[in-house]
Amino acid sequence: MLLVHQNLGPDMARRNKLYEGKTKVLYDGPEAGTFVQYFKDDTTAFNAEKQAVIDGKGVLNNRLSEYFMNGLTTIGVPNHFLKRLNMREQLIRSAEMIPLELIVRNVSAGSFSKRLGIEEGTPLPRPIVEFYYKDKKLGNPLVAEEHIVALGWASQQDLDDMVAIALRVNDFTSGILFGVGIKLIDFKLEIGRIWENEYQRLIVADEISPDTCRLWDMETGEKLDKDVFRHDIGNVADAYTEVARRLGVLQQNNQPVTKPTLIN
Ligand code: TMP
Ligand code: ASP
Repeated sequence: MLLVHQNLGPDMARRNKLYEGKTKVLYDGPEAGTFVQYFKDDTTAFNAEKQAVIDGKGVLNNRLSEYFMNGLTTIGVPNHFLKRLNMREQLIRSAEMIPLELIVRNVSAGSFSKRLGIEEGTPLPRPIVEFYYKDKKLGNPLVAEEHIVALGWASQQDLDDMVAIALRVNDFTSGILFGVGIKLIDFKLEIGRIWENEYQRLIVADEISPDTCRLWDMETGEKLDKDVFRHDIGNVADAYTEVARRLGVLQQNNQPVTKPTLIN
């Protein structure tokens, strides 16, 4: 068993930090074309207006993102995940990030319900893919394909490919979660470009975790995602642990996640 606490990662001191975000840190990787992605316990919502540190959250998201990305690899959806290094870090492929957040929605919730006046929990007739321009100062505004192509953030071909990827991720992730009694309401995806000789390929990057999805228990409707934090409706670590437990990512008899309990 590997015991790595948040501030005591074995290689942290010698790593070159490239970028620190709200919930993750990126370091240079050991080889060209790689980064190390570190998951913090920090949690933010509403464009960082609300903040907290949730013990063990980074450990869970590291494992859960690994689980989903590995699944995507298995079905042939290219993504950045290479290898988990320890409880909080994973080795990923470095990609040139497209400055967009894609949101896929199966059921109306969150900003969609608010903007369009559709009651939370209303199933949508088909998955809806939205694009948000990643700019914190602007509060990540919703944008149309027109804006994206005209302003050069991505080409029309990229957009078509991104929608196809997003729908595959949606089908795969919805299916996996359905199997453990969880409904995938919506989720966020970030996509990057990698270059193979002169050819560009799009890959799923960032993370897939309860921080970036809405997950509702199919029987009870209980929320098992970051909305627990956003709206103060329970214990966030318990909710994420429940997702991990159902997916078999944590062993059934594990101790609370504040202790270093994961088997490597
Ligand atoms: P929204 O309803 O607030 O637009 O969020 C839709 C989904 O995207 C929800 O699962 C939360 C996720 N999300 C992020 O992961 N990061 C973000 O910055 C935002 C706004 C949403
Ligand atoms: N907007 C993100 C969320 O609520 C986090 C943040 O903006 O601080 O998921």
